[in-house]
Amino acid sequence: MARFRIVGGTKLRGCVQISGAKNEALKLIPLTILLNNEVKIINLPRISDVLSQLKILKSIGAEFNFKGHILSINCSNVNTAKVPDGVAERLRASIVLVGPLLARFGYADIPLPGGCLIGPRPIDTHTDSFEQLGAEYGVKNNRLKVRLEKPIGNKVKLKEQSVTATENILMYAAGVEHDILIENCAIEPEIIGLIQAINDCGGSIQKISKRSFRVKGSKKMSKAEIEVMPDRIEAGSFAIAFLATGGEGEISLVRENDLEIFFDLLEQINANFEIRNGNLKIHKSDNLKPFKIKTAPFPGFPTDLQSPISLLAARAKGRSFITEAMYENRLSHIIELKKMGLKAEIVDKQNVKIDGPCRLRSTEIESPDLRSGITLLIASLMAEGETIINNVEVIDRGYEKIEEKFKTLGAKIVRE
Ligand code: EPU
Repeated sequence: MARFRIVGGTKLRGCVQISGAKNEALKLIPLTILLNNEVKIINLPRISDVLSQLKILKSIGAEFNFKGHILSINCSNVNTAKVPDGVAERLRASIVLVGPLLARFGYADIPLPGGCLIGPRPIDTHTDSFEQLGAEYGVKNNRLKVRLEKPIGNKVKLKEQSVTATENILMYAAGVEHDILIENCAIEPEIIGLIQAINDCGGSIQKISKRSFRVKGSKKMSKAEIEVMPDRIEAGSFAIAFLATGGEGEISLVRENDLEIFFDLLEQINANFEIRNGNLKIHKSDNLKPFKIKTAPFPGFPTDLQSPISLLAARAKGRSFITEAMYENRLSHIIELKKMGLKAEIVDKQNVKIDGPCRLRSTEIESPDLRSGITLLIASLMAEGETIINNVEVIDRGYEKIEEKFKTLGAKIVRE
């Protein structure tokens, strides 16, 4: 088990460049199952979830070469839709293999997905969507088996605006010779990126209304190169890190429209920043105001920034309120932050009140999941003295070379 030893109290300063988006990258890799040739994916982040997704593809016959941030992958030799046990059950994103495998083979047999422990993460929206097209499915011995040789009907309405269910059904529809209207979709920027990639590969997905897409599927998709968009959650995390440590700096490769609600909040709380041509400048901001947020599907406030934003509540003068409306167990960072002196009250599983300003102190803490992990890392940078964070492998799932990036901004971090 790896841990970080962090000496806090330094105001972060400098420039940082954002890596490719985890939650787009993890879907572009399964998309290649639908393509008939070798494909390059560029700007692919070297994070452990991406390496796991690649291991899964390799286990069913994909051939690839991943150098730097460029992946060359060829799935023409994939000859089974049965994904072995071993890796898929540790990853939420493994579930999005079902759509491409069903489209190509008419069946999929895959371990139930895993991922960060942030509350129940059902797959009923996935199975229900395939069922609306005539699929039969069952769960046995922790494995999901789905069969759908030919889609029936032309319409699917998602029960929930689930990110991975939307991606799964979009990829399925893109890979079968059929016209399907998909309604009540999630529309996170990473999904729009996936749609763009499918269309660039010769697919046809047309936006009908805000949450509806018409997909004209095809077995003839192919493409030479796909690029991963920059990670909006990493960008938000660094913006928070500059503000929370009282520092200032510049973040490059930020897509303004992906983070509109986050920038609205920064304005509301009196943060001093400017964004121009993909460059986000955070200036010294001393008088932060308290705030109220509630997470929601895009374009609402992203649940993946809910943990780190709590650190700005620690710097603001007054009481802030945070509601995690999407997951039942995504406030575990608060328990660790309270050990560091955060003045917070967990009202119930989804609501927390935080009183600021408060000084955080160093101690030994545990990183419960990916986004809590980055939050604790930033909290350790705010606290005077030495903090130890255990279980930092969860941070490596989604942030590339995180300690190197923070070190260039003046942070004192050692990985042990
Ligand atoms: N939901 C259902 N039924 C389903 C699927 C989801 O009721 O079949 C509910 C969930 O319980 C939850 C909500 O819908 O309340 C959102 O779930 P969704 O399926 O959208 O989330 P996900 O696919 O599990 C993806 C990201 C998460 C991110 C969420 C929300 C991936 C691999 N994961 O998860 O990312 O928090 O969307 O934006 O794309 C992270 O990066 O740290 C992370 C957890």
